[in-house]
Amino acid sequence: MFRRLANCHNVDELRLLAKQRLPGPIFHYIDGAADDEVTYRRNTAAFEDCDLVPNVLAGVDDVDMSVTVMGQKLDMPLFCSPTALQRLFHHDGERAVARAAQKFGTLFGVSSLTTVSLAEIGALTRAPKLFQFYFHKDRGLNDAMIERAKAAGFDAMALTVDTITGGNRERDLHTGFTSPPRLTLKSLASFMVHPGWALNYFFREAFELAELKSHVQEGSNVSVSVGDYFSTMLDQSMNWQDAADLRAKWGGPFCLKGVMSVADARRAVEIGASAIMISNHGGRQLDGSRAPFDQVAEIADAVGGDIEIILDGGIRRGTHVLKALAAGATACSGGRMYLYALAAAGQKGVEKALQNMRSEIERDMKLLGVTRIEELTGDMLRYRS
Ligand code: LAC
Repeated sequence: MFRRLANCHNVDELRLLAKQRLPGPIFHYIDGAADDEVTYRRNTAAFEDCDLVPNVLAGVDDVDMSVTVMGQKLDMPLFCSPTALQRLFHHDGERAVARAAQKFGTLFGVSSLTTVSLAEIGALTRAPKLFQFYFHKDRGLNDAMIERAKAAGFDAMALTVDTITGGNRERDLHTGFTSPPRLTLKSLASFMVHPGWALNYFFREAFELAELKSHVQEGSNVSVSVGDYFSTMLDQSMNWQDAADLRAKWGGPFCLKGVMSVADARRAVEIGASAIMISNHGGRQLDGSRAPFDQVAEIADAVGGDIEIILDGGIRRGTHVLKALAAGATACSGGRMYLYALAAAGQKGVEKALQNMRSEIERDMKLLGVTRIEELTGDMLRYRS
């Protein structure tokens, strides 16, 4: 069936449009996860094991869904998680996401593996920006990135802590996905049946990892798998002291992305982090890891009030966001929920994805009988056993 953006009313439909537009290896890089993808599926399924109990006659004509995250007021309680390699998915890449996030007044996370420079993103958007940091063995590269993020006016930094080695992404092993894509007979065949993507990719500005290129050859035109990048370039000795030092060096709001246990959430508070992102990296790292929604209530019970809690992963519906907030999250974030849309239609696609989610959140708040995010509480949730 031929799909159009205007008819994509949810993430699943945007996913199908992305699938239609992208060469197989690139689609599966976004869509795939680790091992048997159990955790990836559970990230969304977890929300279905919990039901909402609405209240009625609440006078819901004036809904305000804004939240404050790491000192930034967001017009909606959902933001774009940092994700890598965006110009592979659409030629506008991070530029499209930055502009769409600005339009919706929400936070835009930019990956260390960005394909547009931090300086350019800083100049093109006034929206709040989160810089996602990978801790490389190369300390010169780390320091240079921190300086560039500061100079570009990034508001907060998120250190990713769940990629200490590469996850086993078997779809990528089968397709041979690398960044940049390696030209093989098989990949050429898949590019030829997606000429729209291929023409943009090969004839527009050359692909690069804008923040890595000055330090490593992997930043430019040497094809590497993401797993190899994690396993060889990131520092596996990274520990709590490094995180604390990084926070001090950064000096601004600081978040740990990929915290799953109560013990780690407590340590995040101890090192003075402003926020944690409860995340299993979209199921792309440790398969069999618990889902963020399954973990959020116990983490919120332990550290809620001491640190902001962002639930990252599995969000496909407005009700998922509302369940997460009722369970104790400060806000939610997601990657695939906007990446499919980016691949499907660039900035317009991301706007459509954010609009769909915004409309759902507003409608569902009214149906639940709340007009402010702080009215969402645990007693509106019932867990199925
Ligand atoms: C991934 C990294 C790059 O999950 O975030 O592919």
